[in-house]
Amino acid sequence: MDDRVEVVFEPSATRVFVSPGATILSASEAAGVEIVTGCTAGMCGTDAVAILVGEAGLSVPEEHERGTLERMGLDSGFRLSCSARILRGPVHVRVDAF
Ligand code: FES
Repeated sequence: MDDRVEVVFEPSATRVFVSPGATILSASEAAGVEIVTGCTAGMCGTDAVAILVGEAGLSVPEEHERGTLERMGLDSGFRLSCSARILRGPVHVRVDAF
């Protein structure tokens, strides 16, 4: 049985299927969609993306990710792609919103 989850990256509408637990960043790499990163540890905020669909299907943000998003003034519609893990699909991500 194929349990991979669907992720769509906007604005290019690029679709990819990943295993549950993959980060948004690793899904973007699999899709060939560029997300600019820095620390890849949830601290710098360089890779913030907007979640258009499926926010409930993502892992709960850990303290360092939550703190970084708060410091940046981003609300609950945003996640750090290096830190947010995709548990259930479909998830639609906008990579140029920030
Ligand atoms: S790359 Fe620094 S927070 Fe994700």
